[in-house]
Amino acid sequence: MTASLTEKQHGVRELARAEERTAHNYHPLPVVVAHAEGAWMTDVDGRRFLDLLAGYSALNFGHSHPALVAAAHAQLDKLTLTSRAFVHDQFADFCAALGDLCGKDLVLPMNTGAEAVETAIKVARKWGYEVKGVPADQATIIVASGNFHGRTTTIVGFSDDPDARDGFGPFSPGFVTVPYGDLEALEAAIDATTVAVLIEPIQGEGGVVIPPEGYLRGVREACTRENVLFAADEIQAGLGRTGRTFACDHEGVVPDIYILGKALGGGIVPVSAIVADRDILGVLKPGQHGSTFGGNPLACAVGHEVVDMLATGDFQRRAEELGELLRTRLEAMVGHGVLAVRVRGLWAGIDIDPSVGTGRQVCEALMARGVLAKDTHGSTIRLAPPLVISAEDLEWGLDQLAEVVGT
Ligand SMILES: Cc1ncc(COP(=O)(O)O)c(C=O)c1O
Repeated sequence: MTASLTEKQHGVRELARAEERTAHNYHPLPVVVAHAEGAWMTDVDGRRFLDLLAGYSALNFGHSHPALVAAAHAQLDKLTLTSRAFVHDQFADFCAALGDLCGKDLVLPMNTGAEAVETAIKVARKWGYEVKGVPADQATIIVASGNFHGRTTTIVGFSDDPDARDGFGPFSPGFVTVPYGDLEALEAAIDATTVAVLIEPIQGEGGVVIPPEGYLRGVREACTRENVLFAADEIQAGLGRTGRTFACDHEGVVPDIYILGKALGGGIVPVSAIVADRDILGVLKPGQHGSTFGGNPLACAVGHEVVDMLATGDFQRRAEELGELLRTRLEAMVGHGVLAVRVRGLWAGIDIDPSVGTGRQVCEALMARGVLAKDTHGSTIRLAPPLVISAEDLEWGLDQLAEVVGT
């Protein structure tokens, strides 16, 4: 920053530079963050913001959690990458710990969420051909309307969001879409070619859409009955966010394949994985799938610390307790600038009354008051505060929201 530039101009200049030299595939709020700790972020001009998005749940443990930063630092000094051509000393422990957390035999680490979803699709198809006996190239996977599983061409091909999908075809065949939450429709869609049902136990990007009670149990029963794999995309919903380790836990349901990402990397490195038993993940043989960075030493060191932190149950309990506060406060806003709220643990979708403004306008007004949140689908705001947020800070953030929407 030059001496003549005021502090205010610094942020403005950085925004303009970012706009000028990047593809415009995002429409970020106009804030340039330089530092963050716990639930608070500080911008380049020294203004502080309460983070109520937590990197779409990638920062469940908050910014710069000391244990995670320590694990990363320690590993950085020792070994960062081998590729999977060689085995490194962090690999087995991480996979065993994550497998134990999920109650499953095997772990296949990747990097991003979309890669993990792609991995689950490949494994389910291969299982379908080799174990279930589906004729070659006939495998189908049932997905839900309103889904969000990532941005690869295969995945956007079975999205029903025109922004995600239009202009990116042709798409991979083999996906059947049924309405989310409709068990009968799902059961009716299963046939001899069905290898998997791929759903989010709660749809995050869709606006924190919680399916009707009993839906996940019904999906589990249908999959078991019909010899179909239940692949649960817990990338955003899992790892403590909802007050349980997995969102499926709320219905006491264990899927065949857990798909994990976001918080698994502790907000430090991209770490994703699929976790399943040997009879499923065992279908992969050398050369059939991989990733240069998947399961690298740094990722495993951080991911292992994440798993150890979750194994205490403290973060899940915190999400559940603070979630009650979140629910009480948000429900009081219904009818006062808010049309509806959906809350599970420390995670909420808030439908803003259009007379108040768009979701984006509400987020901009929140930003002006020092709170960062993000809109989705026009009129919905998603709140996913770091699970380490204090009750006082959460209350303060919700006070700002209440004032912005006019209660
Ligand atoms: C449920 C779900 N699945 C998959 C993804 C894709 O993850 P990534 O952005 O790491 O590829 C996301 C990201 O928001 C998600 O919410």
